Amino acid sequence: MKKVYIETYGCQMNVADTEVVLAILGREGFEAVPQMSQADVIMANTCSVRDNAEQRILGRIEQFNIERRSRPGTLVGILGCMAERMKEQLLQTGKVDFVAGPDAYRSLPSLISAAASGEPQMDVQLSRTETYSEIMPRRVDKNGVSAFISIMRGCNNVCSYCVVPYTRGAERSRDFHSIVREACACAQDGYKEITLLGQNVDSYNFEGTDFACLLGMVAEAVPGLRIRFSTSNPQDISDGVLLTMASHPNICRHIHLPVQSGSDRMLEKMRRRYTRQWYLDRVARIREIMPDCAITTDVIAGFCSETEEDHADTLSLFEAVGFDAAFMFQYSERPGTLAARKYPDDVPPQTKTRRLEEIIALQNRLSLESNRRDVGKTLSVLVEGPSKRSPEQLCGRAGSNKMCVWTDSDHKSGDIVEVVVTDCTQATLLCMKK
Ligand code: SAH
Ligand code: SF4
Ligand code: F3S
Repeated sequence: MKKVYIETYGCQMNVADTEVVLAILGREGFEAVPQMSQADVIMANTCSVRDNAEQRILGRIEQFNIERRSRPGTLVGILGCMAERMKEQLLQTGKVDFVAGPDAYRSLPSLISAAASGEPQMDVQLSRTETYSEIMPRRVDKNGVSAFISIMRGCNNVCSYCVVPYTRGAERSRDFHSIVREACACAQDGYKEITLLGQNVDSYNFEGTDFACLLGMVAEAVPGLRIRFSTSNPQDISDGVLLTMASHPNICRHIHLPVQSGSDRMLEKMRRRYTRQWYLDRVARIREIMPDCAITTDVIAGFCSETEEDHADTLSLFEAVGFDAAFMFQYSERPGTLAARKYPDDVPPQTKTRRLEEIIALQNRLSLESNRRDVGKTLSVLVEGPSKRSPEQLCGRAGSNKMCVWTDSDHKSGDIVEVVVTDCTQATLLCMKK
């Protein structure tokens, strides 16, 4: 058993976890291969956040099994959030040889060797302490420009709609020494940008060191790198974090601040611990401290008992903030969550869809307006590579995280290039080299 193939679904944290998995298996002599047909072990690192995410993975397990039947001895393993949520249900399908939850990756080598003898294996034990702190992830990102660094695991927030606290367990922060070491290693390996990851980075706390302090330490340890972070929680994002951003030019001016709803009644039912006004006040404070800071968000349409009035509150909040971008979802009931136990999922599917479409249409306009405000500005952009449309063009992201495209034959991925924005679409800033 030496060759592994892994597909990653879900959030950035899963991308980072896959790199930890590859490091753990790499130490035991496993080699990652780019195609399932070359692999002795086929794995998926999975997501449970919405039902459609799980359905997609169940479909992939069918595909894995075609391969598994055609090459007896090939193992199929399910990792990540769906492994944690579904546990033995996955083994009972007869299509999965081993199941490993997010805190069980150190046991993967032994799970794999035990599964190879024909006995299905499972480890879904969650931990109060595991942060994979000293494991240097094996980064698979081909362009070698941008790296994720996980700074904490789990979540203690228990938002009523959300499965993450059940699949990832209690919140714990990683030792800042190992975070700073990893940032320095990324710089040495030629990375140009790092993103610090956690479900709620503002509640980072390692022996009294809070997120503002960590952010400052990382920014100073690798002054030549751009620093990003995700996700901030409106309840917890402190002035300390904003002031740290403002005083470090290498921290990107972008905050992802999921609002979920613009209605106080919904926010309370969602157990989000802030009000619409609190959210608007945080946005005002961000803009006061950093007038050029991009703000993006997540929103859920059609949560339990949401009325047209609640929905109108979400639309008016979007209008009031003028988000630069948003991830927009329909509510999907997740088994075992507080909402699933307490509140009927009573907004009809077509109403959810219609409300989601209204939010998307509004955000499309807001994104275009936000991009138009950038026309004429000079931005520094980190080159990711050639643009999709033309080999003469490069693409990359500005500090705001907006995608920029321009004609350029002098630069390559990893360079920072000054560009002037000449035009835009709703999704892209069209630029010219300065
Ligand atoms: N920790 C982050 C979000 C993690 S999940 C935070 O608190 O902001 C990413 C996004 O998925 C959430 O922000 C939410 O908008 C969405 N989401 C979570 N559970 C969902 C559900 N049951 N149905 C629909 N969307 C959901
Ligand atoms: Fe889920 Fe809320 Fe935790 Fe985010 S903060 S992961 S939405 S429970
Ligand atoms: Fe999905 Fe788990 Fe991330 S449920 S969004 S992969 S934390």
